[in-house]
Amino acid sequence: MPASSHFIQESAHELTWSDTLLLGFGPMDDTHREFVSLIGAMQAAPVDDLPGLLEALIVHVQAHFAMEDEWMMKTDFPAQACHMNEHAAVLQSVLKTRQRLAEGDIARCRRLAEELADWFPAHADYLDSALAHWLCKRQFGGKPVVLRRNNQRALGSRQ
Ligand SMILES: [Fe+2]
Ligand SMILES: [Fe+2]
Repeated sequence: MPASSHFIQESAHELTWSDTLLLGFGPMDDTHREFVSLIGAMQAAPVDDLPGLLEALIVHVQAHFAMEDEWMMKTDFPAQACHMNEHAAVLQSVLKTRQRLAEGDIARCRRLAEELADWFPAHADYLDSALAHWLCKRQFGGKPVVLRRNNQRALGSRQ
């Protein structure tokens, strides 16, 4: 993940859900909605709420990545190493943030949220979408059909 600037004030660019993030595999889309909601909350929350939100994020990220990793392994997804490595690196960064928080660096929570807000759309677009197509093809015999609203606004205020 890219290095980010050092600030702790509320973000002007919270990650918000947009249907452009839909990938067409229902269980994955549901998980991604939850992820986006958690990140948006971490970007906007008062500083005192950040430790609790970080714990919720850790629970989510562990389950989210484990679920996708398991789908890849169970279905012999061809390009799984790259995708799983990225999950592992992000999880490590999230857990490192918990360690930094314990050392008193609460600003690191906000920076993590900013980094994840930057990271997620591309991860979903390049890696999760390929997995969603693969899973839909195996399950239904074809590419996912995605019905999107608000196509012109990809990520709310981020565009
Ligand atoms: Fe994902
Ligand atoms: Fe993923």
